[in-house]
Amino acid sequence: MSSPTAFCACTATEHTAKAAPTTVIQLPQAATDRAAERRQIWAGLSAAQPEIDSRYFYDAHGSQLYEAITQTRAYYPTRTEAGILRALANDLPQRVRFSQIVELGSGSSAKTRILFDALQRQNQAVHYWPIDVSHRMLEATATALAHQYDTLSVTGLAGDYAGALKAWARHPKAQHGGPALFMFLGGTIGNFDATSKSAFIDMLHGHMRPGDAMLVGFDRAPHASKPVWRIEQAYNDEAGLTAAFNLNCLTHLNRILDSDFDNDGWQHQAFYNTDANQIEMHLLSRRQQTVHSPYFETAPLTFAQGTTIRTEISRKFHPAPFTAPFTEAGFKHLATFEDTRQYFGVLMLLKKP
Ligand code: SAH
Ligand code: AVI
Repeated sequence: MSSPTAFCACTATEHTAKAAPTTVIQLPQAATDRAAERRQIWAGLSAAQPEIDSRYFYDAHGSQLYEAITQTRAYYPTRTEAGILRALANDLPQRVRFSQIVELGSGSSAKTRILFDALQRQNQAVHYWPIDVSHRMLEATATALAHQYDTLSVTGLAGDYAGALKAWARHPKAQHGGPALFMFLGGTIGNFDATSKSAFIDMLHGHMRPGDAMLVGFDRAPHASKPVWRIEQAYNDEAGLTAAFNLNCLTHLNRILDSDFDNDGWQHQAFYNTDANQIEMHLLSRRQQTVHSPYFETAPLTFAQGTTIRTEISRKFHPAPFTAPFTEAGFKHLATFEDTRQYFGVLMLLKKP
């Protein structure tokens, strides 16, 4: 079922299996946006160090691969952050006031369920706004959650962070829905470089209302008891799931660009760049190869053997420098939660009233 909504030219799918309906709003992508997106991808691929934005990992298959990665022994961030949230969940409503949760890059919302379980136990009703570019994952998750939790009503926003936040801010339910808790989990903020991270924090701060709170997860930089090899292992799992996840972005690009990337011509690479404090994922060209697309602005792209396309940076942080850009943007730092090994951190922030 599709129907236009009152506040934007989007399509909305409504599931009314229980009292609180679930709506997933598909934010419109205008033809000009699609053209701009293709131009951006082209610019990335034809740069001196070719690159693909990490959002292109997440088509339906990529989202499933990511979920599988989070279950591996090697990938410590998910279970470590889950432990931190478990310790925090019961007290959260006493620490910050909220009747809405807005989650950026929500994926399967697996860790957010820890919080929903606590809210259900306390009989606290909440409106949940998961935001994700991965439409199918978002739909499946939103529907499952609204069925599972009596205390939850859900409006999914399928689209990019910036567009979805704009849609949220304009939505009457958001405007009249009381204070919001924003969540950005998984260390996904590490996928931004320093410049785009600052712009992202400013954009978030701009959309939040005074008194809104935020939880942000961050993966810790190496230290005495967190060696670099442990981080590298998390991005080179034995089952090859991360390799498949990395290569899948080429399949995704082929759909968007009508291009002919051959996955067999590329090899997964992930290593820690100590100077930049970041994991870098690359695709290494196994041979000289040419890639065609009707949307490439000049000639086809040629990749020499041994050259790479960078597909992700995943930055790792020390707590103080991680916190600074948030306080500089006007947030009040309420607390930082960590696991005992100090592998991962969760920052609690407040937009000053
Ligand atoms: N929060 C979850 C998922 C993290 S994976 C967790 O902690 O496990 C990152 C998620 O962000 C994916 O679901 C991906 O689809 C989404 N994502 C990536 N780039 C995005 C963008 N630009 N706008 C909206 N969602 C994005
Ligand atoms: C979502 N993001 C924080 C993950 C990360 O660790 O950077 C994505 C990922 N890449 C490889 N494995 C997982």
